[in-house]
Amino acid sequence: MRDITADNITDAVVEAWSNAPDARQRFLLQSLSRHIHSFIRDARPTQEEWLATVDFLWRCGRISNDQRNEFALLSDVFGITSLIDLQNTAPGATIGSVLGPFYSDDSPHIPLGADLVKDNDGDVVLLTGVVSDTSGKPLGGATVDMWQTNTKGSYATQDESQADDNLRCKQICDRSGRYAFTTVEPAAYTIPMDGPVADVVRAAARSPWRPAHYHFIAKAPGHRPIVTEIFFRHDPLVENDAVFGAREALVREIEPVAPDEVMPVALQRRPDRILRFDFTLVPQTE
Ligand code: BEZ
Ligand code: FE
Repeated sequence: MRDITADNITDAVVEAWSNAPDARQRFLLQSLSRHIHSFIRDARPTQEEWLATVDFLWRCGRISNDQRNEFALLSDVFGITSLIDLQNTAPGATIGSVLGPFYSDDSPHIPLGADLVKDNDGDVVLLTGVVSDTSGKPLGGATVDMWQTNTKGSYATQDESQADDNLRCKQICDRSGRYAFTTVEPAAYTIPMDGPVADVVRAAARSPWRPAHYHFIAKAPGHRPIVTEIFFRHDPLVENDAVFGAREALVREIEPVAPDEVMPVALQRRPDRILRFDFTLVPQTE
């Protein structure tokens, strides 16, 4: 009989995955097994600590439903989501950042220059820029998909007091690759604070705050879509994002609009301030 010992159990587990027919899946399972065993050898958790960890994972499962995935949040606060986003940003493309749980693919299409402010309070901000390829060629017909919080820090997709399509839109860029719409400045918010992940964040005396941001997906035929966020220079929380999504290349000033300033396109509503952000897409490889 094969004798399992603390010395050979890692090899035994790695060997147990060795018949997985898919090479990539086999690699992932074997590498994960080696790394978890290495963590256990290094940290030497007590049985009580491990039972508490399993209980924590069980509570993550129990609080998850079709609106909420506590495991995704766990990945976020460990920086795993952001590390994977960073590793998968193509050289030359706009750097990626977290999608988050509040995206919904059914945002309404709005024309160039349209207004999203409607009856939201706050300054009117023109959000505009150009989607281009790595040679600087504008990608006319590219689509930007944007979603943001209101000035109280909540998304329409999580807050029944808002209209279902409040502060989210899709827009097709003009022939110069330009997008432009007026909106309000979003507010900072915390990660969901009523679950097991927040309990750990609290116990570790970590900040649960995310800096305010606009979420964007930019895409164009034949190019790799980009999922990213835009942050604000005046927001001190950019230094300490609970999910590690804020990066220098994504931080912008929102500038005042001069009374005689000419707008890049015809607008439904005159803005008080303007934020410019250009996207660069790389060709799709596969
Ligand atoms: C968000 O940006 O919407 C988000 C990301 C991670 C956790 C919670 C919210
Ligand atoms: Fe967000």
